[in-house]
Amino acid sequence: MDKKTTVIGAGHVGATAAQRLAEKELCDVVLIDIIEGIPQGKALDLAEAAPIEKHDSRLIGSNAYDASADSDIIIITAGIPRKPGMSRDDLIGTNAGIVKTVTRQVAALSPDSILIIVSNPLDAMCHVAYETCGFPKQRVIGMAGVLDSARFRAFIAMELNVSVENTHAFVLGGHGDTMVPLPRYSTVAGIPITELLSKDRIEALVERTRNGGAEIVGLLKTGSAYYAPASAAVEMAESILKDKKKILPCAVYLEGEYGINELFIGVPVKLGANGAEQIIEITLTEEEKAALQKSAAAVQELKEVLKKLNY
Ligand SMILES: NC(=O)c1ccc[n+]([C@@H]2O[C@H](COP(=O)([O-])OP(=O)(O)OC[C@H]3O[C@@H](n4cnc5c(N)ncnc54)[C@H](O)[C@@H]3O)[C@@H](O)[C@H]2O)c1
Repeated sequence: MDKKTTVIGAGHVGATAAQRLAEKELCDVVLIDIIEGIPQGKALDLAEAAPIEKHDSRLIGSNAYDASADSDIIIITAGIPRKPGMSRDDLIGTNAGIVKTVTRQVAALSPDSILIIVSNPLDAMCHVAYETCGFPKQRVIGMAGVLDSARFRAFIAMELNVSVENTHAFVLGGHGDTMVPLPRYSTVAGIPITELLSKDRIEALVERTRNGGAEIVGLLKTGSAYYAPASAAVEMAESILKDKKKILPCAVYLEGEYGINELFIGVPVKLGANGAEQIIEITLTEEEKAALQKSAAAVQELKEVLKKLNY
């Protein structure tokens, strides 16, 4: 392959992302983790599936960062996931240290790469990575909106008994309880769901989307979701690797857009070979604007926590 993606963290999300990247034959994949044997074992297992899955992506697992040199994309999933009863924000102290350490190492070896951050609490971890790597803002992008939108789409399709392929949804804001699903911009075959579903049913689907992560944590009990999160990170990587210029909701560093300054928050972004190539500003109602501001205030609070922790 002429493209290379390094996935940091060979746990649930990281290994599943590596599998999807390879099976879609998007690039060669390097899997890195601190636990000895895990990235090597998982990469070898995936490589042994290649003849059956019919792809020629090379997979390498390592505990050292040398193998990651000159990657086009780095997906950071290293860190701890939440357990039942924990919020994403409870992870901040542990994961900030991990994200800082890994970002420093990958940024030095792949100075032209694009970082896709997955570790939680997402928006805060984007700040840590951005401050650490020194890359331009276009090359540090957080994954949350694609996942939250996919969850909303899945629930819309279940509710209306239609193909998921007919659905389109937008979820903006931070990746937490204050996320902002936008029913007006969420459609089935181009028809806004506000024309197809009652206000109450839409509110129920919005609520389920907001709690989508917690619903899975509650069922799994030992960790958090990973199939859909991995799919979401890989959709972003694909748009960058193939320069597709898809417009996807991603956490990016805003400098005045949507009236928000110096904060990573989820908004529609055009993803191409140069990373976050354009931030799309859509018109919001007063109510939607207020919800986005509330979400931004929650991310700002996490930024203050990071400051107190010296990150
Ligand atoms: N943004 C999102 O929407 C989203 C969705 C799902 C999960 N997540 C987050 O992604 C992260 C990973 O989740 P998971 O389910 O894969 O967890 P996991 O525990 O299965 O995997 C995490 C991996 O990171 C590794 N790791 C820890 N410290 C490291 C370091 N310093 N260097 C390299 N590797 C290190 C661990 O050894 C482990 O293998 C969590 O923080 C989780 O909350 C985010």
